[in-house]
Amino acid sequence: MEHTISIMAQAERKVTDTKTIPFGKVPTEHMFIAEYADGKWSNARVTPFQNLVLSPMALCLHYGQTVFEGMKAFVMEDGRINVFRIDKHYARFNKSLDRMCMPEVPKKLFTEAIRQLVSLDADWVPRDADGSLYIRPFMIASEDRIGVKVSDEYLFMIVCSPAYLYYTQPLRVKVETEYVRAAEGGTGMAKCGGNYGGAFYPTSKARAEGFDQVLWTDAKTHELIEESGTMNAMFFIDDKLITPALSGSILDGVTRDSLITIAREKGMIVEERPVTYRELVAAFEAGKRVEAFGAGTAAVVAPIASIVIEGVEYNCYTEQDANMYKLREYLYAIRKGVAPDTHNWNYIIG
Ligand code: COI
Repeated sequence: MEHTISIMAQAERKVTDTKTIPFGKVPTEHMFIAEYADGKWSNARVTPFQNLVLSPMALCLHYGQTVFEGMKAFVMEDGRINVFRIDKHYARFNKSLDRMCMPEVPKKLFTEAIRQLVSLDADWVPRDADGSLYIRPFMIASEDRIGVKVSDEYLFMIVCSPAYLYYTQPLRVKVETEYVRAAEGGTGMAKCGGNYGGAFYPTSKARAEGFDQVLWTDAKTHELIEESGTMNAMFFIDDKLITPALSGSILDGVTRDSLITIAREKGMIVEERPVTYRELVAAFEAGKRVEAFGAGTAAVVAPIASIVIEGVEYNCYTEQDANMYKLREYLYAIRKGVAPDTHNWNYIIG
């Protein structure tokens, strides 16, 4: 099905010093919106950024039928702009939508919407080495009906905001064994709003105790590391990259996948498998060099300085020569167009 996207651009450009903008605080001048009803998408348009008009009875406000993605655009060394791994983000978006009984977005609509929007707001893509334009595609159930049901109407939207380092300091985290983020068979693999809202309470408690984030464990045994808030969990133990294998309760992180691919190509040993916190304790107690970090679109590679496990704090390796920084540099180089993009990860906007 063909989708024509109308462009309703505003003349006034308001780019400020993007470096001073806190993550996700200031939108670019434009947004994208399309409507779904009667089984089809229509009225796709790029408009000036504006508030929504939504019925207080809209289903998303009551039963949480919402899904989002997080992607980034970069200015490459040659001045062109690329959107990183648009195909994988698209695939994950639709996987999440399917889990939440929401309609698929046609690939051409998704890709073209991002291309038009980012082209129009290209001035907002930071030129600094550590800057990017964060792209937030999302969908909400918009049918106004208080009865509990799958919505028949949806809005698919995209907004953008300049982004720098999500975490500016190495993190202090704790292994969470009381609360869970997701259970096998639940929605953990989907990027739906409820997964994040449900994490606020335990994360706030951890923050009050002096932690930056939690490392979630599985719902059944509380022994298997799942992921960290807003990121996948990854470790280097004795130079081996170890990360929990994907399961129904872990998000299939795009950065996780990119780092694993790069690590394998660089000849590193990579193990995707169950990781228990006891294995981490054993490694720390044996005096092994343990690097721990979160991987995510917003966080990129977020070093973890220490992990508290059953009340004992273990320090992780965060020196300059750590493997995680090497992986991050390789990733930066591909995105900036400095290293060859052998997997066609960069979708060039122009
Ligand atoms: C991302 O990394 O894109 C996320 O969605 C995490 C957070 C900003 C919600």
